Amino acid sequence: VALEDRGISLWGKKVVVSAGGTREPIDPVRFIGNRSSGKQGLALAKVAAVLGAEVSLVTTVAQGSFPSVTEVLVSSAKEMDEALTNETAGADLVVMAAAVSDYRVKEPSRSKIKRESAAELNISLEANPDILKGLVKAKKDGSIYIGFAAETDDLEVNLRRKLESKGVDIMVGNDVTRPGAGFEHDTNSVVILSKDGQRAVFDDLSKEKIALEVLTFASRLFDRP
Ligand code: CTP
Ligand code: CA
Repeated sequence: VALEDRGISLWGKKVVVSAGGTREPIDPVRFIGNRSSGKQGLALAKVAAVLGAEVSLVTTVAQGSFPSVTEVLVSSAKEMDEALTNETAGADLVVMAAAVSDYRVKEPSRSKIKRESAAELNISLEANPDILKGLVKAKKDGSIYIGFAAETDDLEVNLRRKLESKGVDIMVGNDVTRPGAGFEHDTNSVVILSKDGQRAVFDDLSKEKIALEVLTFASRLFDRP
């Protein structure tokens, strides 16, 4: 990771990053998933480590080793919730870049569903809890929590609403309909809003540069008296 020196540091900070899309099992061989590649989360973990943090990366996509980054591999939203509840105890900065499925299969089949068992298949879903909202409720004083939102419409309106409803310090949003941004791309375009009213826009940057911008935003909040 080659980055310009901005004079910011996360030295001595415990940082937790979540990454990737959760997989909600239908049966032992099938799942409901989403298009998240985990690349933005990986970039955030790496850049935080380069800035001196001790990083825990809770991810659904195995990312390989990187100095000062401990990887915790999970699959479903439930597993991600449990891992994050452990990992975020005492954390200074939590970056929730994972794409958590809003729903899970109510009763996953224990054995593989066979094609010939029925001409039509209905799968009932139930809501997953809002992991980030739960984590924010247990956050330690002075810690910073960041949410990510991928939107197709009304990006800024949705971001402002989520900044409030989730109780986070910063929301980062991207318009996934923009060419070259978001899912599966190596570049991203984002809007960053903080609860103290700051706003910044970054277009067509590598996911590592976006990570540096997000972490710069966060470190400014740490530095506030
Ligand atoms: N998130 C979470 N748990 C969920 C859903 C979302 O922790 N069950 C987190 C995401 O990781 C992200 C933030 O909440 O950091 C915003 O996710 P998003 O899907 O945009 O928010 P939702 O409240 O699920 O709204 P929407 O109906 O637009 O999907
Ligand atoms: Ca959602």
